[in-house]
Amino acid sequence: MDVKLLEETARKMVAPGRGILAADESTGTIKKRFDSIQVESTEENRRAYRDLLFTTPGAEEYISGVILFEETLYQKTSDGTPFAKLLADRGIVPGIKVDKGAKALAGAPGETVTEGLDGLRERLTDYFQAGARFAKWRAVITIGDGMPTDYAIATNAHALARYAALCQEANIVPIVEPEVLMDADNTIEVCEDVTRRVLDATFAELIKQRVVLEGMVLKPNMVISGKQCPQQADVETVAAATLRTLMRCVPSAVPGIAFLSGGQSDALATQHLDAMNKRGSAPWALTFSYGRALQAAALKAWGGQSSNVEAAQKAFFHRAKLNGLAATGRYSEAMEEAA
Ligand code: 13P
Repeated sequence: MDVKLLEETARKMVAPGRGILAADESTGTIKKRFDSIQVESTEENRRAYRDLLFTTPGAEEYISGVILFEETLYQKTSDGTPFAKLLADRGIVPGIKVDKGAKALAGAPGETVTEGLDGLRERLTDYFQAGARFAKWRAVITIGDGMPTDYAIATNAHALARYAALCQEANIVPIVEPEVLMDADNTIEVCEDVTRRVLDATFAELIKQRVVLEGMVLKPNMVISGKQCPQQADVETVAAATLRTLMRCVPSAVPGIAFLSGGQSDALATQHLDAMNKRGSAPWALTFSYGRALQAAALKAWGGQSSNVEAAQKAFFHRAKLNGLAATGRYSEAMEEAA
């Protein structure tokens, strides 16, 4: 294990004013996204769409890394350059989603555990060879009646730490993603309590399983009201609750925290990140690792037509830029108009 390389990669992923594009939708998820624009999910359409995102002029100014799905790691640009090489040449770190998805947890109706540990050591060696320098594993925690159980939190934390230790052995920086879903009708207070339980359990396992905290990136949910909750907390309340929870649970040895967007609107995901950074004084970099909140506008502008590539790239660049500015607390709502 090359700790220096791990630390260097992790720092690059959360460099000031830059963040991560999550473009690692599984075949099932990208089909859903393509359905929304009436585009068929063929291998070539998936390649063309990722090509558009990764070749966006100037994106490297605000994008430090891209999470790829396994299929994409082995695909090439229209002119035959492997995507991983294209990204690395632009100073963007290529990464890969390595989990095999959240599956029903035995004996815990409604809850899941993320699978994919079997054979992971061998897969990581192949991914490193193909150019991946970081990985992602997403655990999913559901809020509901009697949920999450300590059982679901513990099994997911254990798997996240096993994954992270294997990544570091292969000189790949693990993104550790314990996602508390934001779709229910819970208040922000409930989200705060659950997020704290989840982060506590996750870091206890990471430390027990000897993960080098300096060589990882945390990808958490923000502390936020459930989507169905009638009382939606405002931006400042979300920023304060999220920072308070992270300060209580995340060791300062961790170089950076890159949030998921989790179904927030594009603008709200940016505003929340900006508000946290405007408060200042956090011991870690606070940036983004958004999927939907970075891609929604570009996907719509593209609509599967090659004649729309430029418009889609402009939309993607705009979102990347606003989030890059939010990552250093320099965003303002007026910038939304400048699309
Ligand atoms: P969203 O930002 O769309 O939540 O996706 C981020 C991600 O990678 C979830 O695993």
